[in-house]
Amino acid sequence: MAYRDVYKSWQDDPEAFWLKAAEAIDWDEAPTKALFDDNAPLYEWFRDAKVNTCYNAVDRHVENGRGDQVAIIHDSPITGTKSQITYAELQTRVAALAGGLAAQGVTKGDRVIIYMPMVPEALEAMLACARLGAIHSVVFGGFAANELAVRIDDATPKAIIAASCGLEPGRIVEYKPLIDGAIELATHKPDLCVILQRDQHPCDLSQDRDLDWHAFQEGTNPAPCVPVEGTHPAYILYTSGTTGAPKGVVRPTAGHLVALNWTMKNIYNVDPGDVFWAASDVGWVVGHSYICYAPLIHGNTTIVFEGKPIGTPDAGTFWRVIEEHNVKSFFTAPTAFRAVKREDPAGDYVKKYNLDCLDQVYLAGERADPDTIVWMQDQLKKPVIDHWWQTELGYPGVCNPVGIELLETKLGSPSVPLPGFNTKVLDDEGNELPAGELGAIVIELPLPPGTLPTLWNAEDRFRKSYLAAFPGYYETGDAGLIDEDGYLYIMARTDDVINVAGHRLSTGGMEEVLAAHPDVAECAVIGVTDELKGQLPVGFVCLNNGTTTSNEEVAKGCIKLVREKIGPVAAFKLCCIVDRLPKTRSGKILRGTMVKIADSEEFKMPATIDDPAILDEIKVALKTLGYAKS
Ligand code: COA
Ligand code: AMP
Repeated sequence: MAYRDVYKSWQDDPEAFWLKAAEAIDWDEAPTKALFDDNAPLYEWFRDAKVNTCYNAVDRHVENGRGDQVAIIHDSPITGTKSQITYAELQTRVAALAGGLAAQGVTKGDRVIIYMPMVPEALEAMLACARLGAIHSVVFGGFAANELAVRIDDATPKAIIAASCGLEPGRIVEYKPLIDGAIELATHKPDLCVILQRDQHPCDLSQDRDLDWHAFQEGTNPAPCVPVEGTHPAYILYTSGTTGAPKGVVRPTAGHLVALNWTMKNIYNVDPGDVFWAASDVGWVVGHSYICYAPLIHGNTTIVFEGKPIGTPDAGTFWRVIEEHNVKSFFTAPTAFRAVKREDPAGDYVKKYNLDCLDQVYLAGERADPDTIVWMQDQLKKPVIDHWWQTELGYPGVCNPVGIELLETKLGSPSVPLPGFNTKVLDDEGNELPAGELGAIVIELPLPPGTLPTLWNAEDRFRKSYLAAFPGYYETGDAGLIDEDGYLYIMARTDDVINVAGHRLSTGGMEEVLAAHPDVAECAVIGVTDELKGQLPVGFVCLNNGTTTSNEEVAKGCIKLVREKIGPVAAFKLCCIVDRLPKTRSGKILRGTMVKIADSEEFKMPATIDDPAILDEIKVALKTLGYAKS
């Protein structure tokens, strides 16, 4: 079937389309119906079904003869180790871990925070929660204690599962002090912390609540899979919004299983048994969906990679892993390839490896710049697929659907909407715009299975953030256009979210941190264009009258504070002191104009600007940081 036919079959009968896709899942009680719209505009999928995610990702493959197939390959150029876990071994390990958790009283509906580096145990922890019907919330290792504390207070977990440390090139990230610090800061206190001791830096387990990963499983019984309702939350994943308070995206169990399984063949073009690799981190949605769940649900082999695109040890790492482990489909963020391209422009490392096994490469998480795509196409001579998605959706909404049909690739566009997604571009009043015109990108409701039904404990925020602006549609927060062939182009965010090295960050959140600095009167954070990371945050701060601290010291203090409060992942390293911030007469800071000045783009002087001379001061400040060059 061609893409158009598949898309039309969904449009003609979405209910039948998703019930058909649901046949690939092993249900404890099969759904009698796909969509439940009695609470519209909030929707539910497969509400009357009963199912277990871990059973579908692990046990059923063992029962169906895949027990000896490798489920997880761990490849860690940072530690110089490699290992493999078969589906049968995974079943034993996950059932044992779940048994240990159950013995500690963790049960269906309890929340469990997972704070782990890129080791197979991170996936085992996620699967063990799923086995019990416990709701996990994985927190990325690059966040600071304060961010972890915010998530502890929102998710109120019974347990935290963590490792003793993460490993960044040349640096050990000690997790235990971060966890202890976060629990100290948080109002909610978890009952227990299960800690995986890593040889690189074992930690002290002196607190009453701390349990050793292996010891606490001893003498407990392996736990069986607990069937849960189709709408039961599989996990909560926090993502950046406009303010410092992250949004807890809820992932519903049944829709997640059905949709992810569907994507593996139709988008990623792999069959059960093939090796699939998403080079991301378990802390991000890409890691949840395509390192852990989707490949395992579909019976693929997944790779857990603890390394970086460059420097571990060189720009050939990706190609080495692909050749060595026979990877068929590979997925990472454009920033990773920009890093590789910068180190190896002539592709000398690419030539060193035999990449015959690789069929195609996928990019997402940020805009894929045409230069990088063309470089990859030239080097690899394989399809390079840019596709668009969000934490909220959990899987791609717009993509060149290779597994169905490889469509024409248009540089700068992630291609066409997938079944389930009726994307439109609207003006501010909610009118649909003609092809080629820029506006807000929205998706017609209901969103398809597996996408967020709500935010954790925050239904009002869900309605306000996503449903209020354009009734009948989900507001993506992205601006862009659709061309006359139905190809989507993402141009910018409509909110204060920036994208740094494929990581979604809130400038509002950084401003909240800077505003708390004792010498800062007011501040603004903008995202400027960066060749490697896509965007970088730049802070502008105005000092309190009478401050005696030097400008340099305040700037350094601000940088330190963001690292301490949000974490190294914020990559906040550029901060300047200015006398005033450019504002409209009503007091709104002109962040968009500041971004244009930084990126040396043309801009129209805002009619409502209070004092245009301030823009010159901003330009001078940006020049000292190496921006606003023209
Ligand atoms: N734990 C602790 N710290 C972490 C971390 C983790 N899991 N991940 C990143 N950090 C730290 C880094 O060490 C760095 O610290 P530093 O300021 O001391 O150098 C900081 O956070 C910023 O990290 P990053 O933005 O990733 O920059 P980098 O210079 O370390 O690496 C790239 C640059 C392009 C190689 C890297 O960003 C990359 O591989 N990106 C791919 C992104 C990706 O997979 N995104 C997921 C969506 S698909
Ligand atoms: P996250 O929730 O972290 O996955 O970030 C989602 C946001 O990243 C989207 O709303 C976009 O702004 C951006 N994004 C993701 N994929 C793409 C893409 N292929 N092209 C352009 N922007 C993208």
